[in-house]
Amino acid sequence: MSKVVVIDHPLIQHKLTFLRDVTTGSKDFRDLVREMSMLMGYEVTRDLQLRDIEIETPMGKTMSKTLTGRKLGIVPILRAGLGMVDGILQLIPAAKVGHVGLYRDPQTLEPVEYYCKLPSDVSERQLIVLDPMLATGGSAKAAIKFLKDKGAMNIKFVCLIASPEGIEVLKETHPDVDIYVASIDEKLDDHAYIVPGLGDAGDRLFGTK
Ligand code: URA
Repeated sequence: MSKVVVIDHPLIQHKLTFLRDVTTGSKDFRDLVREMSMLMGYEVTRDLQLRDIEIETPMGKTMSKTLTGRKLGIVPILRAGLGMVDGILQLIPAAKVGHVGLYRDPQTLEPVEYYCKLPSDVSERQLIVLDPMLATGGSAKAAIKFLKDKGAMNIKFVCLIASPEGIEVLKETHPDVDIYVASIDEKLDDHAYIVPGLGDAGDRLFGTK
């Protein structure tokens, strides 16, 4: 069963308040998304494996810890997920970055993949899928299915704000995927926007309307 981790660190919650504020402009919005993603990255990477290696300090030899185990891959869901990439890369500069783009077919309303470029060794990596808003769960559900179809086996999903509906959809369809979120908001409105949410994350990141 998926683990749902609400990251309630005071710095993250403080930044989320400014992110939600309608008067926050695109530059500050981008900075806040990057900063929050980096802070959330600490929690998301808490279970990374370590091994001991011998090093020499100016005072002599000692054993010290270094990362080992699975390499990481970051996969933003286009386009709003792009805003979260740099924050995570600040923590894990060696991670490879894949991209998944989806649109909703106007007839069938099913998500269709229009872009997918992943690291070639995707099945060996721990993937961190990024999308700031988990609303209906449709995009996240489909993106994770595409990744699994391409061989991905270890996936975590990170968003800033989720709806209760989106969390349920993701938990049901991908029970092996843990979800990390800064806030689970009240509900979805009739247009599938999260309330109170922050509006359209992509538009606010990139200054489009
Ligand atoms: N996508 C957004 O950017 N905002 C929402 O509230 C829902 C989906």
